[in-house]
Amino acid sequence: MLIVLGSVKGSPGVTTLSVALACRWPAPGMPLVVELDPAGGDLGSRWHLHDEPGLRNMVATARYGPLTQPAEWSQRLPIGVDVVVAPAGQTAAYTVAAFGAAGPAAVRRLAATRPVLADVGRLDPGSPAAAFLDKADLLLMLTRPQLEDVRHLMVVLPALAERCPSVQLVVSGAGPYDAVEIAGYLETEVAGTISHDPTGADVLAGRRRPVMGWTRRRLLTAARTLAVALASAATEPASAVQVRA
Ligand SMILES: Nc1ncnc2c1ncn2[C@@H]1O[C@H](COP(=O)(O)OP(=O)(O)O)[C@@H](O)[C@H]1O
Ligand SMILES: [Mg+2]
Repeated sequence: MLIVLGSVKGSPGVTTLSVALACRWPAPGMPLVVELDPAGGDLGSRWHLHDEPGLRNMVATARYGPLTQPAEWSQRLPIGVDVVVAPAGQTAAYTVAAFGAAGPAAVRRLAATRPVLADVGRLDPGSPAAAFLDKADLLLMLTRPQLEDVRHLMVVLPALAERCPSVQLVVSGAGPYDAVEIAGYLETEVAGTISHDPTGADVLAGRRRPVMGWTRRRLLTAARTLAVALASAATEPASAVQVRA
């Protein structure tokens, strides 16, 4: 299953949610988080990782064959999540664009063997990461429940929905609108809501050591609920998420 995660405005927590979902994905699934954010990756900086093995290696490998050797392009975070880190800064845009030709099909093949969570950061139809929508099963757009964000979504959702068979929202943090209002206004299903949880977010960013019971924090329990729903949607024939063959 290939799930693309993005946002339209601000920094509502796409990278954090990607790691949280992978961390709390129900067994036996072992998701892979791939940073495909043209604005640059954050996980390498947060977890003090080298850029390699990472996205550049994945791009090079996919040029010549299937992505069968994860050790060549992924790293494991201390919290047990496998990630493909993108370089920080603008060079990531070139790397993501270079992946636009062979990448979507290669990642799709990989996603047949394990869930792939592609963090594309801020997503508009002109993003070099938009090519991945053509092969995705689901696009999750993260938004804050604020008018500005929701109106931006209103503008871009139709073009994004043309490229991906299922687009759903995740509402993050506090604001004047609730998930039902946003779903109604945008005529788009809300897959989940994520609470403001700075401590949980700090652990997922490597800024705070996980202590016993940390996965019971609000951010992690919300991610668990969403991960379980997404994992079961992949196997249910009548689900809103139809996994592409
Ligand atoms: N649910 C949350 N509660 C509190 N802080 C959060 C939450 N999600 C993310 N953050 C924090 O907000 C900042 C931006 O998050 P990040 O995941 O990098 O956003 P994005 O990928 O959308 O730019 C980070 O410092 C992160 O730790
Ligand atoms: Mg991010």
